This record gives sequence, C-alpha cells and structure tokens, in this order.
Amino acid sequence: MSKYITTPIYYVNGEAHIGHAYTTFIADTMARYERLKNEDVYFLTGTDEHGQKIEESAKKNGKPTQQFADEISATFKNLWDEFEISYSQFIRTTDEDHKKGVQKAFEMMFAKGDIYKDFYEGHYCVSCETFFPETQLIDGEFCPDCGRSTSVVKEESYFFRLSKYQDALLNHYAQNPDFILPKSRANEVINFVKGGLKDLSVTRTSFSWGVKMPASMNDDKHVMYVWLDALLNYVTALGYGKDDAKMNYWPASVQFVGKDILRFHAIYWPAFLMSLDLPLPKTIGAHGWWTRDGEKMSKSKGNVIAPKEVSDAYGAENLRYFMLREVPFGQDGDFSQRAFIDRMNSELSNDLGNLLNRIIGMSSKYSDNVIDSVDVMKYHAKEMNDMHTIVDSLDQYMEAIQPHRYLEELWRLFAIGNKAIEEHAPWTKIKENRKDEALATVALVANVLAKAAVMLHPIMPKTTSIIADALGFEINYASYKALILDKELLKVFNIKNVPPLFPRIEEPLMPEAPKAMPDNRPEIAEKKEEKLKKAEAPKAEADNLIEIGQFFQTSLKVGIVIEAQEVPKSAKLLKLQVDLGEEKPRQVVAGIKEHYSAESLIGSCVCVVANLKPAKLMGMVSEGMLLAAKDESGLSLIRPEKPKKAGTPIG
Ligand code: MSP
Repeated sequence: MSKYITTPIYYVNGEAHIGHAYTTFIADTMARYERLKNEDVYFLTGTDEHGQKIEESAKKNGKPTQQFADEISATFKNLWDEFEISYSQFIRTTDEDHKKGVQKAFEMMFAKGDIYKDFYEGHYCVSCETFFPETQLIDGEFCPDCGRSTSVVKEESYFFRLSKYQDALLNHYAQNPDFILPKSRANEVINFVKGGLKDLSVTRTSFSWGVKMPASMNDDKHVMYVWLDALLNYVTALGYGKDDAKMNYWPASVQFVGKDILRFHAIYWPAFLMSLDLPLPKTIGAHGWWTRDGEKMSKSKGNVIAPKEVSDAYGAENLRYFMLREVPFGQDGDFSQRAFIDRMNSELSNDLGNLLNRIIGMSSKYSDNVIDSVDVMKYHAKEMNDMHTIVDSLDQYMEAIQPHRYLEELWRLFAIGNKAIEEHAPWTKIKENRKDEALATVALVANVLAKAAVMLHPIMPKTTSIIADALGFEINYASYKALILDKELLKVFNIKNVPPLFPRIEEPLMPEAPKAMPDNRPEIAEKKEEKLKKAEAPKAEADNLIEIGQFFQTSLKVGIVIEAQEVPKSAKLLKLQVDLGEEKPRQVVAGIKEHYSAESLIGSCVCVVANLKPAKLMGMVSEGMLLAAKDESGLSLIRPEKPKKAGTPIG
C-alpha cells in the first residue's frame, strides 16, 4: 500500500522557525518510518506564496513579489535540505502546474453548482487571511486569532457552498474516528461545524497576487482566496488538473498541521474534496504550539529561534529527538535550553551513548572486538523476550501518531541493556573465568542497540546509521525485517570503535532568549490572563523564580489621572491621560470601562508600568499599563494606600 504524507505549505513572509521545523520533523519521521517498513511513500512539503500578506511583506522589503517569494521559498528549501528532510517533492503555489490545477478545481466546483457569485462584506484580518464575523472580533475591531486590527472589506466575491456539506462533514467525523488526531482535538472541529457553516468567500478583488480565475469564467478581476489555492496543493502536487500522474497516492494517509490551521484542514479541505468527488485523507494530525522559555515566539519580541541556530549549537538530529520526545503530540510545548540539555545528557548521552561505548570498550578488552550472539539466548532469554515485547509494541504508537510514546517505550530497551550490564557485571565474570557469560551479556547489549537503532532510525537517521555501522550492519528494509519482524540476532561481527556520539553538555551553547518585553496587545493580555488562571500558584511560582534584577527591569510608577474618556464603540476601553511627573502626560488605553467610569478616575492615583513599549489599541497609542487585580467579583485598580506624587517610583 502506498502512503502519502504532507506538511502544511509554509508562508513565505518570513524565514522558518522551530515551530515550522517541528511539523516538518514529524512528517519526515513518519515518512522514514513507513519507508523503513518498505511502504511506497510520497512525502510533500513546500511553500504557500500567494495572498495579501505576502504581497505586503514583499512591499515592505522593497522587492517585487515574485522575487521576494523566490528568495524566502529558497530559504525553506535549503533549510530542509540541510536537515536532510526526505521530501519527495517541494511544491510552490506559484508553480505553473499548481495554478492550473487550482483553476481546474475551481471549474469543477463551479460546474457542480458549488460556486456562485455574490457580495461579501466583512471584517478581514490580513495577517490570518481570514474574514471574521463582527461577533467574534475583540472590541468590535481586533482579530480574535492574532489580535491585530481587521479592516472592513466589501467586495464582489465567488462563494463556495460550504453550508451544503455540513451534514456530510459531521457524518464523516462520526464514521471516521481517526480523521482528526489526537482525538481530543476533534471536538472543537465538530462543535464548530455543528454551530452552522456559512458559505465561504473563495475569491478576492482587493488585490491581485493570487491564482487568476480560469479563463472559462471570463472574470479576471478576481483572484483565488489563498486558502482555496493553498489547500489544493495537496492534490495538484500529484498531478491533479494536469495528468493525474501520481493521483494513485491520494488519499493522503496523514496530513500534519498545527492546531491553528486545523479548522482549514478538517472543515474546508474535506468539503472541497467532496465537491471534487475525491476521497478524504485518512487522518489530519494536529500538533500543538511551541513557545520559547514560556513565551510566545514573535518577531517583535525578538525571541524567535531559527532551527539552524539550534542545530549549529546542538546538532540537527538531537533537535529532532528533543522536539519529538519532549511534547505529547497535540499538546503545546516549550523550548528551553535547560530542558534540551537535560534530555541530551540523560537520555542520549547516558542511556544510549554510554551503552554503546561500554560494549565497545569491553569487546576490545575481552574478545578482540568480536561480538557473537551465540550464547545470548542461553543466558539472557528473559531480557530478549522483554526486548521483543517492547519492540513489538512500538508500531501502534507511531500509527497513532504518538512519537513521544514511541520514544518513551523505545528507551526502555536501553534500560534493559544498562541493567543487564550492572547485574551481570561482565568484568567480574571474566575474572571468574566465565568468559562465555561475560561475552553473552556484551552480545545481548549489542542486540539491544541494534534493534533500538533500527527503530530510532526514522527520528535520528544519521546517528543510528553510525551505530549500525559500528555493529556491522546497515539500516534498511532487510535489516528491519531480520532484526525486528523476524526477531533474528546479529550475526557474528567485529565491533568498530566510534567516538562518543553524544558528548555531555555542561553549559547552554546558545545565547539565552532576549528578555521579552511585556506586551499589552489584546491577544497577549488574554493569554496572560489564561495562563494566570491555569497556574497552580505555589508550584508555578516555585518553577518560575526570577532574580531581583529581573523585577527591577520593570519600571513601576505612581501616576495621576488627569483626563479620562470612553473610547467610542468599545465595550472595554477607556482612554486616559496620566501624569507620571514627566514633561507631558502619558496616554494609556486601559480595558477597565466595565469596572470604572471615566469621571470617577479623574484626579485619582494609579500604578503604571512605565517602560512598556508603546502599543496600539483600536488605533490609539497606549504608553503604559495600569496595575489591577481581577477575580470573579470584578477588577480593582492597584493604588498607593496614601496619595503620592505623580512619578513616585514603586518597588
Ligand atoms: N500557509 C499556511 C498553511 C497552508 S497549508 C495548505 C500556514 N503557514 S505558516 O507558515 O504560518 O505555518 C505553517 C505551520 O507551522 C502550521 O502548521 C503552524 O501550526 C506551524 N507553526 C507556526 N508557528 C508555530 C509554533 N510556534 N509552534 C508550532 N507550530 C507552529 O499556516
């Protein structure tokens, strides 16, 4: 059976960071795993290059859009090549064949009566390339996903009859419990669909950087909506709309996406496919979001980590291992050098690396490097049996897309090897003239390492090839079949010396993340609130201690409110002028309207975070943040107990 595995295609408005690398690593791991099992795999990745966001990024960079897209797309491709990502094809949505395929799909949908022309009026977020109904906006204006300002767009548009597919989609989710993995993510999709699907605007007239309408539509002021264009890459890559050359790979076995784009893949995409009379992918695998040292990564905070920076410091395969092992698939994860170094030292260096070096050392001392499995079953039948039970269990974890569980179980093999050495202490057996037993333990460990290396190969292809080479074999389907499926033992061989594969790391090898500035954009404020709510205070605080110097990086001052106004059309915001003892009062836009009237604040003292980067809220600059405490009974401002002069420092 063939397997088709895809990553999302990456926007070319900026270079890759570790979040992108994570999706790609998982997909590559899965592709390599299936290949190891001798499946015929087609693995697709690429770049998503159309839409207003890209057009605007190119403009900001002062480059023609196509040139800009070419350059950024190349950075993704080069990075994946450097990481030896084993893709079969790197698609770009600016490829001519892709564009033709999209046009063909549009014609098919139109012919089927699934596309009609109307007017669209809505709030559009350029950054997310998505329309939002007014009810979902924050303070009537800001994008509920990214917090950026939306703009009202009214334009003629073609619509896709998404509503028509509501029941069919719900039915599909019900009949195919593995359609969305992990299953815990399925509910949010099902509820969204149950809430009612509106037809989807699938063309734009407000910009031109997109796939043109098919000539047959005779309507060239429209270009395709970027998500219609982008999602179709998964079939145009296989020749859809051209020669269907590789359509035998369709439907995909698994399509990996981040949780932020699950809705597009689990609702729009299957509806498009139903309209095109194509089968649906077997599984959409949705992973969580990575933060860095607990902070959301963003360009403005300057804390984005480039995958290359990590791989240069710690090694590309170690990064793959860390990311796949650290986070249960589907959950959010945090990248910190401390956690990375801990895993490298304890799991890679101690558990795996030392085990190999120990048998290299012992074989050179006791047997002239020769390792022979002849007596393994005689002395170690129990360990062999335990080992095979673990090895047999691994497939289910990869099939269920749980690489973290897969690795966790796989590591139990090293525990068997390490324990056997401790318990059977070959060095004493040698002294006691029980050489056969000593060599059988060494050979047991060699077999543990060999089988573990085969199963670890999809995650760490190069490192495991070095291990296999030391153990006298090559990792391929033949060795997978012999060692894993047929449970054979290694044939007699001469072990090769290899330098330690995972030297211990004592100190972080990369500069620490720049201290993120507090951020009072609405989405961040909301996330912070969520985080605070979730924190079990004592534990979270103990994990989160800061130095006094870090506290003093925040400048807190007493301010006196000298003017206060309601912000029209905002349910939450007040605009204040606050005297901080500076030349001019500061403008502070605060979300406290539901708790304080504007008049009641005038003349009163407040506590202000005075060294925040200015932020824009509903188009108004805010130059500080008020301290307040909020619980179920409401919000109250924090104020000095007795009146203090404007600008008095707090701390
Ligand atoms: N172009 C769309 C996808 C179209 S697929 C038909 C897109 N591109 S993206 O570049 O913004 O994101 C690509 C992938 O990277 C998504 O799966 C997204 O979830 C993932 N990540 C981006 N930032 C991430 C983290 N910080 N953490 C984990 N993954 C994240 O969306």
